[in-house]
Amino acid sequence: MIDIHSHILPEMDDGSKSVDESKKMLDSFREQGVDAVVATPHFYIGETSVEDFLKKRESCKKKLIESLGDAKRPGIALGAEVQFFPELYSMDRAEDLCISGTGYMLVEMPFDEWNKYTYVTLEKLYTAKGITPIIAHVERYLDFQKESDIDTIKRLKDVHALIQMNTGFLISGKTRRKALNLVKRGLINFLGTDAHNTESRPPQLRVGFDEIYKKLGDQGIDAFAYWGEKLMDKMTTI
Ligand SMILES: [Fe+2]
Repeated sequence: MIDIHSHILPEMDDGSKSVDESKKMLDSFREQGVDAVVATPHFYIGETSVEDFLKKRESCKKKLIESLGDAKRPGIALGAEVQFFPELYSMDRAEDLCISGTGYMLVEMPFDEWNKYTYVTLEKLYTAKGITPIIAHVERYLDFQKESDIDTIKRLKDVHALIQMNTGFLISGKTRRKALNLVKRGLINFLGTDAHNTESRPPQLRVGFDEIYKKLGDQGIDAFAYWGEKLMDKMTTI
C-alpha cells in the first residue's frame, strides 16, 4: 500500500508541527502495513519559488530522517501538492516538483467551476513537459462543476490526468456510496490520506482500502495495485 498524498514533513506547511508528530504519523502508517508514503507539502506559486521550496523541503526531510535512525518505517518519497495556476505548464523546474523519480505531479485544482483553459493547462503539462498530473482529492471539486461527477472525471482523463481520492471520502458514511461508485467505475487511480496530523486529519489508509474490499472485493482493489506498482517501480524512496 502506498499513500501518495500526505503532509508528514515536520514544520513544512500546515501539516505536521514537529518531528515528534511526524514520527507518530509514520508509526501509524507502519502499523497499517503501508509500504511507502509520499510527502506532498503545499506548493503555492504566489508564496515561494521552486528553488526555495526545495531547499525548505530538503531541510525538513533531513531533520526527520536524522531523528528516525534505524526505526522500522515505510519508505518516504518526496513530492509536492502543487496549486494549479494557468501557466503551470511553463513554470521553470516544474519537473522537480514531481514525485521523486517519476513524472507524476500531484496538483491541487481550483475550488470553483473549471473552464476549457483549465483542461488545456493540464494537457499542456503532459504534452509540453511530459508531466502526468495527478488530481489531488478529486471529490472536493466535483460539486463546483456543471457536468456530472463522472463526466468531469472522464474529461480529466481525456487530458491525461490520473485521479486521487482521499480515504476520508470512503470512510465517511455520508459520502461512502458516492466514493465506492467512482471506484467501481474504474475512475480512481490512487488513494491518499491527505494526513496533516494525528488528530483531526490522521493517516488512515488501510481503512480506506478495507471499505473498498468489503463492498467490491478484489476487483475493487486491482486498479490501485496496478497503479501503486507502476509508481513504486520508478519512485525513489529514502
Ligand atoms: Fe493535501
